[in-house]
Amino acid sequence: MKKIDYIKEINRLKKEKKAVILAHYYQRPEVQDIADYKGDSLALSRIAATTDARMIVFCGVHFMAETAKILSPDKKVLLPVKEAGCPMADMVTDMSLKKYKEENPDVTIVCYVNSTANVKALSDVCVTSGNAEKVVSQYKGKKLMYVPDKNLGTYLKEKFDLNMNVWNGFCCIHNEVTVKEVQNAKESYPDAQLIVHPECQLEIVKMADFVGSTGQLLNYVKKSNCNEFIIGTENGIIHQMKRACPNKKFYLLTDNLACYDMKLTTLKDVYDALQQEKNIIEVKDDIQENALKALEKMFEYTDN
Ligand code: 13P
Ligand code: SF4
Repeated sequence: MKKIDYIKEINRLKKEKKAVILAHYYQRPEVQDIADYKGDSLALSRIAATTDARMIVFCGVHFMAETAKILSPDKKVLLPVKEAGCPMADMVTDMSLKKYKEENPDVTIVCYVNSTANVKALSDVCVTSGNAEKVVSQYKGKKLMYVPDKNLGTYLKEKFDLNMNVWNGFCCIHNEVTVKEVQNAKESYPDAQLIVHPECQLEIVKMADFVGSTGQLLNYVKKSNCNEFIIGTENGIIHQMKRACPNKKFYLLTDNLACYDMKLTTLKDVYDALQQEKNIIEVKDDIQENALKALEKMFEYTDN
């Protein structure tokens, strides 16, 4: 059987079908390399909202492709691997949030973008790790519930002294990082700065020199005068860091910082999805309309 040159074929199909390929920084290096745009969830959602492509192939996890569909409902959005999900996003269900809202009608629901469309549709405003600080600081003094990430929520609550409760969700990759592991890494690399994602637990975040979304971490290493970094987020980002700063050194905080779901997508999956136009993301009209309102509210605070 003739071997398929996936890179060549993906590039051909992309033009033929007027498709744009978006890849999150946690994707496999070869998948990031084939993408038209790579970014964190905030940057990719902005591209999804504004692209004039006919089709979006979203190399990431389900909530990201779903967010693209909410923002661009007239486009065909494909998720190359339909099973690629985010366990954290499933830690709050629309049923449980509906019940919470019934019991707490005066509480404003702030929803991390790592959530389902149904949960976004029940929320007042969305945030991503790249703009959460800017968005929640607008809600000082209000009664808030933050879903689903307890770690990012607790970080925000403490930093801005918010009247906020946090849901009990977490990222099973970032949440696992321990103080001992940080101490060991700092001992092994005494000249390196520690930079972490806010999905790590607060005690880890407090030990860091910088905290930010994946895009913010990448910008930080580009601008910093420091030459060595301990990376407290998923290993995929190191591909872009090395590319941007070939003379700097990057050490992954622990070997466990690998997101199983993010790594499911291969070049073959991207090719198959494009060729067969399969794994189309659908969002019901009423859910799309309400979820869009929560996302637009987020952009209102961050873009003005
Ligand atoms: P970003 O907002 O930095 O893209 O992070 C998304 C994510 O899933 C982190 O685990
Ligand atoms: Fe979800 Fe964590 Fe994977 Fe991000 S790294 S997609 S939060 S499981």
